[in-house]
Order: sequence, then structure tokens, then C-alpha cells
Amino acid sequence: MRRKLAAGNWKMNGALSAMAEVQAICDAHPAPGVDLLLCPPATLIWPMASMRGSHPMAVGAQDCHMAAKGAHTGDIAAPMLREAGATHAIVGHSERRADHGETSATVRAKAEAAHAAGMTAVVCIGETLEDREAGRTLDVVGTQIAASAPDGATAANTVVAYEPVWAIGTGKVPTLRQIGEVHAFLRAKLVARLDDEGTGIRLLYGGSVKASNAAEIFAVDDVDGALVGGASLTCADFSPIISAL
Ligand code: G3H
Repeated sequence: MRRKLAAGNWKMNGALSAMAEVQAICDAHPAPGVDLLLCPPATLIWPMASMRGSHPMAVGAQDCHMAAKGAHTGDIAAPMLREAGATHAIVGHSERRADHGETSATVRAKAEAAHAAGMTAVVCIGETLEDREAGRTLDVVGTQIAASAPDGATAANTVVAYEPVWAIGTGKVPTLRQIGEVHAFLRAKLVARLDDEGTGIRLLYGGSVKASNAAEIFAVDDVDGALVGGASLTCADFSPIISAL
């Protein structure tokens, strides 16, 4: 059985003062029945990992470079993130694909770099509104998952997050039927390519998840949790989402 995963992506938000929220999340879920993951900005990985102490919540990065070291000013290599306390790395978030021109080939290389550093890659995919309206959603996410997920993906080292670009930070959410259709499609793709490992890889939904819609989204087949942006920044918003899993 796949364990449920509540993952938070703080994006470019948060400061040392926000560690109080992390403490509150840990206190509210001292022995969570689900896996917890928070991905703060790189500057907060070490403080968050230190503060968490023995609490089982994992800390992740929001990106990593595809090389293990070298002349790449401003970038951070996966082994460095791992040393700072990150056990996961989000790769291929649509904001990175859009803001930094990351292709699925880049994303795959970054996922492989995360794996080589002993980290779990959270591989993000999702269609634009234009894709959705043109009826291309399954084509787009099928192409993205094939090109972004490494051949060495396993249930232990890879999580896939389906995040429709048009649902991110907008308050708009696909219908439960649409979410179910994409997740079933992705599951079939993963199983066809990776056999048992494809069965075990967790599929997260992301895009305007909040306390009021979490339970119904989590009830959809093949939704193994969520990648939450804005609603993961405070305990008040994130805790009910965790509880809904
Ligand atoms: O990585 C998280 C997603 O981009 C979702 O963000 O929950 O603020 O819509 P959101």
C-alpha cells in the first residue's frame, strides 16, 4: 500500500521567524499517520531540519542542479542540499519550467542528480489552461512524465506531482472527475514503464488545495496526497489538510 503524503512547497516565502509555524505543525501532528514533507527556500532547509529534531517530518528542496558540483554560480547541487538536511527535491515545478526555461530533459537530469545524492525526487508535471481547453491534457502530461521521470525511478526515490498550471495559486481546481482521469492515466503510464515500482510511486495532486477541498480530492482514486503551496505556510491552513489524508 502507498502511504499518504502531505507535502508543502513554500516557494519564495518564509523566514527564520516562520520556524514557529513549523514547530506548531509538528506539535499538532506528533505522530502523523501520513508522511509529511515541507520544502522551504534553500536558506531555511538547515534551520527547518534542525528545528524538527526527531519529528518524522521530512524537509525538502525546491530544486537542485543536475551536476554534483562545478562552475554554476547561484545554483545548489543535490549533495549540498542533502548535507543541509534535505531528503527530497522538487524538480520541474511549472514555475521553474516557466521562469527558467526548464525542459523535461532538464527535469529528468535533475531527478537523476537527486537520486544520485540519495534523495527522493518530486517530479512535477501539468498542463496549461490552453492545453486543457484544446483537449490536450493527457497528451501533455503523458509526454511530460515519459520525458521527466528517470528510468531508475522507484517507489522509494520518486514521487510524481500532477499540478495543472491553471490551478496553481488561482483558487481554481479541476473537477474530481478530471483529477481522477489524469491520475489513472499517469498510474497506467508508470506501471507500463516501471512495473511494480510504477504501482508504488506516489501520485500527488497540486493546485489550490485547501482545507475545504482536501478531503474530496484525497478520496479520488490514485490520489496519494497533495503538493500544497500557499496553504502550507501556516499551521492553521496546513494542519486540516494533513488531517484530511
Ligand atoms: O507546489 C505547489 C503548487 O504550485 C500549488 O500551489 O497550493 O498555492 O495553488 P497552491
